[in-house]
Amino acid sequence: MSHNTKPPRTPTPKEIASALSLRVIGQRDAVEEMSVALAKKLAGVRTGNILMIGSSGTGKTTLMRGVEEYLASDPRLAQRSTVVRLHANVLGEEAERGRPGEAILHRLIERSREQLGEAANWDQILDRARQGLVFVDEVDKIRSQVGDRPNVSGIRAQEALLTLIENEAIPLRVPEWAGGGTTNVDSSGLLFVCAGAFEGLYDSVFDRVTVGKDKGSLQSVTVVEDGRVREELQFSLREWLRNEDLFDYGMSPQFLSRFDAVVLLADLTVEELVRIFLESPDSGLQQAKEYFATYGKKVVLSPAAARSIAAAAARQPRLGARALKEVFRRVIRPWEIDPEASISSDALVLDSGEVDAALN
Ligand SMILES: Nc1ncnc2c1ncn2[C@@H]1O[C@H](COP(=O)(O)OP(=O)(O)OP(=O)(O)O)[C@@H](O)[C@H]1O
Ligand SMILES: [Mg+2]
Repeated sequence: MSHNTKPPRTPTPKEIASALSLRVIGQRDAVEEMSVALAKKLAGVRTGNILMIGSSGTGKTTLMRGVEEYLASDPRLAQRSTVVRLHANVLGEEAERGRPGEAILHRLIERSREQLGEAANWDQILDRARQGLVFVDEVDKIRSQVGDRPNVSGIRAQEALLTLIENEAIPLRVPEWAGGGTTNVDSSGLLFVCAGAFEGLYDSVFDRVTVGKDKGSLQSVTVVEDGRVREELQFSLREWLRNEDLFDYGMSPQFLSRFDAVVLLADLTVEELVRIFLESPDSGLQQAKEYFATYGKKVVLSPAAARSIAAAAARQPRLGARALKEVFRRVIRPWEIDPEASISSDALVLDSGEVDAALN
């Protein structure tokens, strides 16, 4: 018998990325950035915090959940990582109660206690919690002002996060089960990944470079389409976003300076929407399949039908992949009311005819 004393091998970022790509379609930059950070974290090497920005329904929360699932799927990885995911608003609420940052630490401690089990002592639990991975979702909700009005809970929440990031002595109430009292915790080993849609950011940056302060910096390009020539402004947020735009949005310079990487998620293409619709375990199609199966009916969709649905979803502004559900609901509704009578064979076959009829 041989004893394995080597620490378990750390997966490469490439391996992590390919696992995450089963859940997150497209969004290569974000998936890769996340994978490199996670590999470093698992290897016990320091890595910088990440801020993800992307329109609603483009996969930010899906990516966070993908990482949680990935870590949970392998006991050897789960052994080396404690993850919590929370909504940024929670930080504002607890900051109002005067103990910024404690909610995150307490959740990490609870999580690592669950993972390490009964036998672990307080020092082991705390030590592991201090190395945790913290996902803060909807971080744009803690902007410091909304319109002209200051957003007090947002300001406090940003301060709460600031307190935690890179801090070496956070006062923490020790839970009763660990003896109570207070202690100081070094939280500098935490990795933060924050995400938000930053609704309105796109428009304000576009305005800055077209009609605002930097008017004229966006040059029009000549496009030839169907034999016709026209001038078009080609704008991408990725190219024009500056830190100042995020300050103006209401993220404080101190807060932003704690992020090494700002990653932009792209709007989804029709091809990506088709894949999400067909492959995602929580897509409307999967739900419909489950529902009709309870009446012994299959749902079969032609490639052209899937494409029509994705194209209709892509035309909906600001919903991202969420539009798929709404579009598909309109398509499937007529059969849902009475599956046995309305579907004569054992399968509901949807082709572009059915889809176009429902959508037009
Ligand atoms: N890139 C993607 N890959 C796979 N599924 C996706 C992707 N983007 C969105 N989806 C699907 O769309 C739905 C919404 O996605 P998600 O919750 O990740 O959006 P979000 O970016 O967090 O949006 P919001 O800013 O509104 O919170 C989910 O059901 C998810 O399955
Ligand atoms: Mg989300």
